[in-house]
Amino acid sequence: TQARLVVDDEFEVAQVNDRLFGSFVEHLGRCVYGGIYEPGHPTADEDGFRQDVIDLVKELGATAIRYPGGNFVSGYRWEDGVGPKESRPRRLDLAWHSTETNEFGLHEMAKWLNKAGGNELMEAVNLGTRGLEEALDLLEYANIPSGTKLSDERRANGAEKPFGITMWCLGNEMDGNWQTGHKTAEEYGMLAASVARGMRSLDPDVELVVCGSSSHAMDTFGTWEETVLQKTYELVDYISCHAYYHPELQEDGSRDMVSFMASGEDMDGFIKDVAAAIDATKARLKSKHEVFISFDEWNVWYLNEEPSKNPEGIGNWPVAPRLLEDVYTTADAVVFGDLLITLLKNADRVHAASLAQLVNVIAPIMTEPGGPAWRQTTFYPFSLTARLAKGGTVLEPKLASGTFDTPRYGEVPAVNSVAVRGADGSVNVFVVNRSLDAPAEFEVKLPAGLETAGIEAQTLHEDDILACNTLDDQNRVTLHDNDTVAFDAASGTVRMTLPPVSWTAVRVK
Ligand code: AHR
Repeated sequence: TQARLVVDDEFEVAQVNDRLFGSFVEHLGRCVYGGIYEPGHPTADEDGFRQDVIDLVKELGATAIRYPGGNFVSGYRWEDGVGPKESRPRRLDLAWHSTETNEFGLHEMAKWLNKAGGNELMEAVNLGTRGLEEALDLLEYANIPSGTKLSDERRANGAEKPFGITMWCLGNEMDGNWQTGHKTAEEYGMLAASVARGMRSLDPDVELVVCGSSSHAMDTFGTWEETVLQKTYELVDYISCHAYYHPELQEDGSRDMVSFMASGEDMDGFIKDVAAAIDATKARLKSKHEVFISFDEWNVWYLNEEPSKNPEGIGNWPVAPRLLEDVYTTADAVVFGDLLITLLKNADRVHAASLAQLVNVIAPIMTEPGGPAWRQTTFYPFSLTARLAKGGTVLEPKLASGTFDTPRYGEVPAVNSVAVRGADGSVNVFVVNRSLDAPAEFEVKLPAGLETAGIEAQTLHEDDILACNTLDDQNRVTLHDNDTVAFDAASGTVRMTLPPVSWTAVRVK
């Protein structure tokens, strides 16, 4: 395969919003308990936070953290998680058929975020079993400085200053019939509008995310966006998209790896379709207001497969069971890198995104109780993209690539790529070779007059595309220098070979 990217400084897509590198901590499985919080762990601090996990979260470069769910939030009573720990109730969590001890709640999360590098908190309100009143109570508790019942309760519980939460999700995946309190688009649109109106009158600085579709493939996709946006357009700042990809199991027991490698095409189409729904609503309402996309759940997830099966039985509600603990292959990490490229390419419409999730649960970071924490394969594309792209500007991608055929998406480009002009003047190119068997000869034409002090290229690739990092072999898969990279100063061209199933970041300083 041949592919060529022309990097032209004259045409910008958008500034990279830091929130594009957000992640997600849900009360689910061992994400909170045994993940970020494990009192008694050898690295735990006085709050019970694992320092080894905090170090990896900082290295990952995750920004805004969405919390506390996810499906969990649709049955959550936020007030169970504040006040003295010994009087917090144990509750059933219907979403994950688990017991929630409430040992960890809003105060612990705010404290942990400070210790993890001052990341922003993106809080979700429960619009499944609850509504306007409880959302207003939580907002008052979190954001009013003092002098009211709930703000004074917060102060009495140890947080003198308000949490100052700006980003709020108006429920979670309310289009999904698995969601506690699932609603039609009409019902949800009405509720979201009234909650948004109330929250805005309490705190005019909030930024609100209304629920879009749980996936591009939902039967209600499109009409859901149209109905919900029609009712909420002037009151919200974002509409959400959620997408998870995995290689589908075929009847013969094999997996459709060819289509899986092209998952970025579906994500790109999803974003374009939602952007069209936003534009159509804006036109219909003759509005001047802008609504952006919060891609607040994205990842590879072997959904419905063994590690994601809920506990069952009336007497069986475990605390923090091992759930959704997918072990990611090298191929998964390459697709994951392609999803990041796709988010960057659409940085004019996608202003926030949350990698679902952060620790243990479909996560880049894994832990063992009392034992080590380590990086999954997906950790690498995230951390390097975040490090190179934060603060930069996405340049309009002018890309020509050979193609291949997929059962699911038809003919797709074999190479996907995007360039980001760094805040320091560097040019950073992110590229995947989606082909399962053919290497790609990749050429990047740099902007004219770019002074180059050096070029670095790092590639994620393994001959065994199913190789992964595990407790017993934590560093099996990692980034390697790509030593095929060459620079031709006369033509301002970088050339390199991309192995099949590989993700690469090139930095030209
Ligand atoms: O991230 C796991 C789950 O996926 C979330 O709880 C839910 O919102 C989605 O279906």
